[in-house]
Amino acid sequence: MAEARREYWATRIGLILAMAGNAIGLGNFLRFPGKVAAYGGGAFLIPYFITLFLLGIPLFWLEWAIGRYGGEHGAHWLAPMFYLIAKKRFGVRGAKIAAAIGGGLTLAVGIMLTAYYTNIIGWIAYWAGWCISGKITSITEVSQAKTAFIQVLANPVYNLIPWIVTLVLIAIIVTGGIARGIERAAKIMMPLLFLFAVALMIIGFTWRTPVRPEWDSLKGFFWMWTPNMAKLADPATWLEGTGQIFFTLSLGIAGIIPTYASYIRKEEDIALTALTTATLNEICEVILGGSIAFTLAYAFGGPDAIALVAIQGKSPFALTMVAYPAFFGRIGLAGAALGAMWYLLLWFAGVTSAMALVNTVAALLEDFGIRRTYGSFISILLLLAAGIPITIEGMLTGGETVYLDFTDFIVGSLLLVVTCLIEAILGGWFVWGPEALEEVNRGGYIRIPEWVWKYVISIIDPIFLIAMLVWLPMSTKIANFLTRHPLAPTFVGISVTLTILLFIIGAIMGYKCAEKYER
Ligand code: ALA
Repeated sequence: MAEARREYWATRIGLILAMAGNAIGLGNFLRFPGKVAAYGGGAFLIPYFITLFLLGIPLFWLEWAIGRYGGEHGAHWLAPMFYLIAKKRFGVRGAKIAAAIGGGLTLAVGIMLTAYYTNIIGWIAYWAGWCISGKITSITEVSQAKTAFIQVLANPVYNLIPWIVTLVLIAIIVTGGIARGIERAAKIMMPLLFLFAVALMIIGFTWRTPVRPEWDSLKGFFWMWTPNMAKLADPATWLEGTGQIFFTLSLGIAGIIPTYASYIRKEEDIALTALTTATLNEICEVILGGSIAFTLAYAFGGPDAIALVAIQGKSPFALTMVAYPAFFGRIGLAGAALGAMWYLLLWFAGVTSAMALVNTVAALLEDFGIRRTYGSFISILLLLAAGIPITIEGMLTGGETVYLDFTDFIVGSLLLVVTCLIEAILGGWFVWGPEALEEVNRGGYIRIPEWVWKYVISIIDPIFLIAMLVWLPMSTKIANFLTRHPLAPTFVGISVTLTILLFIIGAIMGYKCAEKYER
């Protein structure tokens, strides 16, 4: 057995803030409102909440249980965790295969997703800089903001500097370790995030007609909650509703939740803490994220801005990267202050999620004797390699993002479902059995009933996930990616090649690492 590392969360509040920081990210403030607008307003919330209760919360508990169990045995990433659980039923050989799959998924998703995710955080930092310096007031038209944003995409200086600075900051935080690095950062960033989010929501509800009397912010809010039931007939609404739950709770994303959970003490509550974290995430997404996006967009851009929120559901840039800068710029210094709050909020949300991703890669490397300090910076080099095609594509095409969008589809949608399916099978009643329930309930302030594990996690969820795996590739028009510009097939090819390469390397590492746990 590998020797257990003695790293733990220092306080419960720190654990909740770090876990909430992991879950609360760009998904809550950019992706969610976009999906709501694109898929029927309030109608979207029907598949969304069904999935939250049927898959989201049960799988969240499962990931916490897998993680803490792994941590008890010195495992801090998905491969050895899969190994330890799979060995119970499939023997050493089967368990090693599980470890290899876990390793492949961790490295492929961990690097590819973080590479584009941190790129977007870099763009956010760029706009934050414009707002804080007051330069944003020079932008009054959406067309000007668009030109400025395309310049960011097309000019490596604007694109790379905020991204690299963000990456280095994340590496420094992760280098500090769990309690002294990540927990401390979360304790500073998360309260600020909540503060800015609540302030923006209050402004959205009270500063109702800053531009035109008919552009009342409350109309935006009511638009969000009015269901367009016809959209429920579109399978995409269901698929997207489910996908959003996975993304927002970080479920299946490179095992970042299990990795964080592996630093929880054996006797501490996880049942209620996980539920609290999921609830915080939902408050941040549905109440804060939704209200801010819809009220501000309507107040500053009227009904047309709702269409921009909807585009954000397909490409997360329209509203935040192009329309908001003009909205903020138009109202002078008040707009600069509003914009600073918005972009800093997004930056904190993004960074606290990205540090969970970098921490997972660092934990993986630690298993091969690479110290956390070096591991964090090696992760950053890998992220630069996997993210640089975004810059190159932007330069060559004047701001296209096929590489980013396609990678998001492969790792941010598809592989995430694959990971959850494997977790549900391994962690369910037929493999891990009643021990899983004991694990999740040990030290619990609430008790998760047996039926949740026996029927929901072990039967309903795998069926649901398999259906998604069949449905997702069928409903996505790959041709749409390939035909966006002449170089698109090349960038799709690079994305696929890098993902496969990382998967293979991760699988070898997972397999090798399992040997340590054989005894
Ligand atoms: N859960 C993270 C987000 O919502 C990845 O952005």
